[in-house]
Amino acid sequence: MVGDDCLSHVDGFWLLPQFVEPIDRVIKHLGRSPSDIILASFPKTGTTWLKSLLFAIVHRTSKHHLAMKNPHDLVPTLEVQVYTASDEPLLNNPCSTRRIFSTHIPYQLLAKTLDSSDCRVVYVTRNPKDTLVSTWHFINKWKKAEKEPWPLDVAVDKFCHGLVPCGPYYDHVMGYKKLSSENPKNLFFVTYEELMSDPISHVKKLAEFLGCPFEGEDDQQEQIEEVVKCCSFEVLSEREVNKSQESPAWFQLPYNSFFRKGAVGDYMNYLSDEIVKRIDALTREKFHSVGFMYGI
Ligand code: A3P
Repeated sequence: MVGDDCLSHVDGFWLLPQFVEPIDRVIKHLGRSPSDIILASFPKTGTTWLKSLLFAIVHRTSKHHLAMKNPHDLVPTLEVQVYTASDEPLLNNPCSTRRIFSTHIPYQLLAKTLDSSDCRVVYVTRNPKDTLVSTWHFINKWKKAEKEPWPLDVAVDKFCHGLVPCGPYYDHVMGYKKLSSENPKNLFFVTYEELMSDPISHVKKLAEFLGCPFEGEDDQQEQIEEVVKCCSFEVLSEREVNKSQESPAWFQLPYNSFFRKGAVGDYMNYLSDEIVKRIDALTREKFHSVGFMYGI
C-alpha cells in the first residue's frame, strides 16, 4: 500500500499517487483568501497536535469542539479532504471567517503559490530520529492488511533515501526553513521539541503571529494554559473521538492511529547506536552543513 513501489516521484519528492492530482488544484487555488492559515508539515512531525493548537487559539470560544471532533476533522488537509473532488473549500468553523487548513505538500511544489499569497503559514518539524520511528509505526499499521510490515532496518533505509510519503524528509524541512529565513513575517517555524519544552511561550507567540493575541493582563496566562492543556497528548488521546477505531471517510486508518506515544526521544527505545550514527551523519550533511543546527 505505501511502499516506495507505489509512490509517485514528483519534482524530487515521493508522493502518494492519490494526492498528486489534488495537489494541482491546491496550487491553483491556495492563497486567494489572505486570512487563511496554513499548517504545513512532513507527516508524523506533530501535525495533529498543531491542528488542535491552531484551532484552539483561533476559535477560543469553540474549544469544546476539540472534545467532540478529531483535530483532522476540524482542520482538514488540503490535498486529502478539501481539493479531492470539489474545488470549493468549506469553512471549518461556520461561526468564523478565519479558515485553517493543513498540507503535507513540500514548499518546493507550492513556492509560487505561497510566495504570492499573504496567508499565514505555520510549519512544524520534528527531529529526524523520532520522525522515522513514528513513520515506521504508522506505515506498519497501514501495511497490516498486506501482512508484510517493514522491519526496522528497511524503514531506516527508506527514510534515509527519502522513500517515504512526502520524502525526502530533509528536503521537505529545508524548503520551509528557507522560506522562514527569507520571510519570517509570513512563516512561523516551530519544532515539536520546542513546543514540548515550553508550550506556553510558543502558544503565546503563535497567537501573536496569527494576529489573535491573548489579551487581558490578568487571565492571559490562564487562557494560554487552558489551550495548552486541552491540546495536550494526555487530554486529546483520552477523548472518545480520538480513541475511536472507526476510520474517517477520507483515510484508511482509524482515528486512534494519530495518537501513539507523543514523546521526545522515543527513538532511543528502537534505534541501535549504528543506526543513530547513520542518521546523525545524514542530519549533519543535510542540516548542519547549511547552518541549520537541528536534529541531533
Ligand atoms: P509518536 O508516533 O511518536 O507517538 P502527525 O500528527 O504529524 O501524524 O504526528 C503524529 C505524532 O504526533 C505521533 O507521534 C503522535 O503520537 C504525536 N501526537 C499526536 N497528538 C499529539 C499531541 N497532542 N501532543 C504531542 N504529540 C502528539
